[in-house]
Amino acid sequence: MNTHHDSALAPPHYEAEPSDWTLVDQGWGHHAVDFATLSEPGNCREYVSMHHRLGIDAGDRVLDVACGSGLALELARVRGAECSGIDASPRLIAIALDRNHGADIRVGDMLALPWRDSSFDIVTSFRGVWGTTPGAVGEIYRVLVPGGRVGITVWGHIKQSSGAWALRPLAMAAAQKVANQAAMVSLGRQGAGEELLARYGFVDIERTTIPCSWEFADPLSFARAIASTGPAYEAIEHVGQDAFLDFAVEQARAQLRVGLPLRATIDVVGYIANKPAA
Ligand SMILES: C[S@@+](CC[C@H](N)C(=O)[O-])C[C@H]1O[C@@H](n2cnc3c(N)ncnc32)[C@H](O)[C@@H]1O
Repeated sequence: MNTHHDSALAPPHYEAEPSDWTLVDQGWGHHAVDFATLSEPGNCREYVSMHHRLGIDAGDRVLDVACGSGLALELARVRGAECSGIDASPRLIAIALDRNHGADIRVGDMLALPWRDSSFDIVTSFRGVWGTTPGAVGEIYRVLVPGGRVGITVWGHIKQSSGAWALRPLAMAAAQKVANQAAMVSLGRQGAGEELLARYGFVDIERTTIPCSWEFADPLSFARAIASTGPAYEAIEHVGQDAFLDFAVEQARAQLRVGLPLRATIDVVGYIANKPAA
């Protein structure tokens, strides 16, 4: 994955790509149970940190966009929030519903949110809004009440992260897919997320660092976890499952420490902003 972010670069101008969201499940849903149990729990620091910064509290109406298998929603419900979620992958949504009985969690496209204007007090998205999906920010703005808050996370400077090794296997995808991955993570550039949020009307935009450290018991557990993600599906399509897993195990073996878990700390940027009060 070419993920170098040069903060001296001007923020790029994003154009929405035509989205065939119904194909997303091929990648993100292919090992949904592995993703939910081996990969998503590694993001819990990110969820807790963003929920805390947003001050999510009892009775808040919270929407999580690109909610994956719903762990962030489960944690927001622990704080007493009334939760809704949306994701393009029916297989991930099945798990999100299993984790969040009674919550309004739907299969759908973040570029056409199936809720009325001003439905939510808070909208979150954890690495769900990308440089290639700017229109999702307009949809988030629409469904927030005036004065509502948004909190999104995006990848930061991956190459400078000590845990960059954990994402290296994803670069085994075809060159065009790797280029698209790089465009997707471009929102982490200095000024890029700020520009996008301001373009859709958000104010009081704050950029913050969000903790992200994944831990794995051993190289095989790591390989299985990373293989369950959408970009890994693209890499496996290109080089085959065995080559992908072998490379992932090799990357992890080089990181082994006696008596400690494998740990990958990766730079994640958070953006918090407000929809202006009426
Ligand atoms: C990086 S994962 C993040 C998942 C979850 N938020 C997490 O923290 O693990 C990206 C998610 O975006 C979802 N997704 C991709 N395109 C989408 C779209 N157009 N509409 C809704 N969800 C989409 C994928 O199914 C996947 O669950």
